[in-house]
Amino acid sequence: MQLSPKPLFWILVLILIGLSSCKQDQTPETQPTNNEAQVVANTTRYYQEPHRPQIHFTPEKAWMNDPNGLVFHEGLYHMYYQHHPDSNVWGPMHWGHATSKDLVQWAHHDIALFPDELGTIFSGSIVVDKENTAGFGTSENPALVAIYTQHSHSKEDAGDLDYQTQGISFSTDGGFTWERYTANPVLPNPGLKDFRDPKVIWHPESERWIMALAALDRVKFYTSPDLKTWEFASDFGPGVGSQTGIWECPDLFPIRNDRTGELEYVLIVSVQDGAPNGGTGTSYFIGSFDGKTFKPTVGAKEPLWLDYGTDNYAFVTFSNGPTSENRRLGIGWMSNWQYAQQVPTTTWRSAMTTARVLTLHDTEEGKRLKSTIVPDYMKLRERKARFNRLSDLAPTDLFRTLGEWVTDPLEISISTPEGVTPNFTIELASDGGDTVSFGYDKSKAEYFIDRSKIKSEDWSETFSARHTAKRKTWTKDPFLNILLDRSSIEMMGDNGYTPMTDIYFLAGELTSMKLYGDKNIEGTIFELGQKLPTPVSVSRVQRPRKL
Ligand code: FRU
Repeated sequence: MQLSPKPLFWILVLILIGLSSCKQDQTPETQPTNNEAQVVANTTRYYQEPHRPQIHFTPEKAWMNDPNGLVFHEGLYHMYYQHHPDSNVWGPMHWGHATSKDLVQWAHHDIALFPDELGTIFSGSIVVDKENTAGFGTSENPALVAIYTQHSHSKEDAGDLDYQTQGISFSTDGGFTWERYTANPVLPNPGLKDFRDPKVIWHPESERWIMALAALDRVKFYTSPDLKTWEFASDFGPGVGSQTGIWECPDLFPIRNDRTGELEYVLIVSVQDGAPNGGTGTSYFIGSFDGKTFKPTVGAKEPLWLDYGTDNYAFVTFSNGPTSENRRLGIGWMSNWQYAQQVPTTTWRSAMTTARVLTLHDTEEGKRLKSTIVPDYMKLRERKARFNRLSDLAPTDLFRTLGEWVTDPLEISISTPEGVTPNFTIELASDGGDTVSFGYDKSKAEYFIDRSKIKSEDWSETFSARHTAKRKTWTKDPFLNILLDRSSIEMMGDNGYTPMTDIYFLAGELTSMKLYGDKNIEGTIFELGQKLPTPVSVSRVQRPRKL
């Protein structure tokens, strides 16, 4: 998409931000070698790079995958992430770091965790050790403790099986600098090739920390009084939920049923293959947890999916979130291992999904999670246009509806006066000859995002496909909310019971946006984020001296 012209003032602000970030880039850790020069982003202009999302988190440069260590602490949301700082493909993993006050605008920070002699740093979680159970902080200044997998590539190369172990590091300055625990690993490998992605929560009833760990076809639960010593509690699986790919990035958390207030446990499990529209996807179970064993009530026979698009993987939730007990905040990696390393971006690869609010409801199909985009995105709303299709014949030119201000991120809402989901297609086309479309097909009762007319044969065999998700006919008032950023579509079908998150890449400039479909479709389009100092307002900042 095109950028609308910005006032000179903001250009100067951008240059200043860029100059300060260039300085930051000269640290030895992030200084790339010559042959890695392609991943050096020009921070003054990177929001004008082709495909760079404007209101989604992306690394300043280089490779990113899973969100890690999501934690809310002293007014800041911290997001760490799987990061290979020297390349735009996966490699020796570090934890990148960013913070936000509202889950919309992010500030970049220095890399938090680096590989060491025990291995590279794979996915994991962070807890605030309020009772100082590990003794790394004090009760006045509790330590943040990161629990993560260390992957020893040398052991793997030597043909050993036990190359994944769990280690911890702690921070007493609010998550900006980290110290390794000297007695790592805290959980050695029992001889399992896949033994990773610890997610830790505090279980008040048993007064124990609980670790959920992915181990091939199951989740292993461990308990600990102090985060340093772990005892095996139980296995969940095999033979439950999705069996089509290995399990990764589990996340166990309590949540109250939105209506009854009953306490339930949700177990999120990312599955490496066989998601509803192919490749990697995020599934979940709902059930009970007694401190040792998870017993599912839904999701065991037929897997439940958190998202029906192809690009929401490794979704995990915030620990210590400032939310009530019936909401849980989380973020997913907005890509798919089928093509993540080949997508046509150069200086960086991958974005995160918008942060989502999860709530649990009784529905006609049983208990289900609903996802909505965090309301703070509404702050980005600026100019607004309404459209109303008077005829179902000619397409509505949404560019014209928007007048002069065809621009970057948009929020589109669609409804009809009758309160039914209308038959509609919104099609974006570029001067490079690509189109992507999305909408609802009434005859099949399904939502769709159609990437089949994007030319991707040079880099992926699976990317250019049509993705569908059945409409849940029991949802009332099926208002449809769509967040369209440069290179991503988040279509929150059925009020959030059927979200679809897909990325897309159009060659050249976006040249048209048309709406086809039923007469009487009403809609609203908001231009998003133009008042921000940069379209996405991600700035590189020094860590605060005192939080
Ligand atoms: C999921 C995953 C995790 C692992 C990490 C490595 O995308 O494969 O299981 O910890 O990525 O980067």
